[in-house]
Amino acid sequence: MNYRCMQISDYDAVMKLWQDCEGLSLRDADSLEGIERYLERNPGLSFVALDGARIVGSIMAGHDGKRGYIQHLAVGEKSRGIGVAGELVLRCLSALKSQGIEKSHVHVLKNNEAGRHYWSGRGWIERSEIVMYSFINGDNDNA
Ligand SMILES: CC(C)(COP(=O)(O)OP(=O)(O)OC[C@H]1O[C@@H](n2cnc3c(N)ncnc32)[C@H](O)[C@@H]1OP(=O)(O)O)[C@@H](O)C(=O)NCCC(=O)NCCS
Repeated sequence: MNYRCMQISDYDAVMKLWQDCEGLSLRDADSLEGIERYLERNPGLSFVALDGARIVGSIMAGHDGKRGYIQHLAVGEKSRGIGVAGELVLRCLSALKSQGIEKSHVHVLKNNEAGRHYWSGRGWIERSEIVMYSFINGDNDNA
């Protein structure tokens, strides 16, 4: 397995991976333009895993100067259970740390039991005291 930073040219393969993975929520903000903007704003923080030339894993991250935000951790079904996600998370946290970010958050859909099991089994603390609010500042309620 090889790992490298995600590039916008990976978009089609990564989108296919996300679509094939249960538990991920894809929105209009995950369009080619949205992901390109995200990668430009957060250079060096998103990674892909490659089996040969094939992308089998992804993770994206950004930060606001204080906290890191991880999203879209996904590993193709055939490549699961061999530590690909663990390596992607490690690289991501290390890249965030090199930019001064020592605490990160990840949003997981409540009904994604496997995803919740994954994070809580690795020392990530479920924040039951926080409720998230979102506001749509435009016409698009799928942003
Ligand atoms: C969660 C996920 C990223 C784990 O990827 P992975 O490369 O198999 O993970 P690792 O090998 O590093 O760790 C194995 C863990 O994955 C989980 N897992 C989920 N499905 C699995 C499968 N089919 N085979 C093996 N492990 C699986 C287990 O929780 C296991 O943890 P455990 O050892 O505590 O039981 C992957 O199952 C996935 O892409 N799921 C769909 C998308 C998703 O839910 N993402 C997380 C929310 S942001």
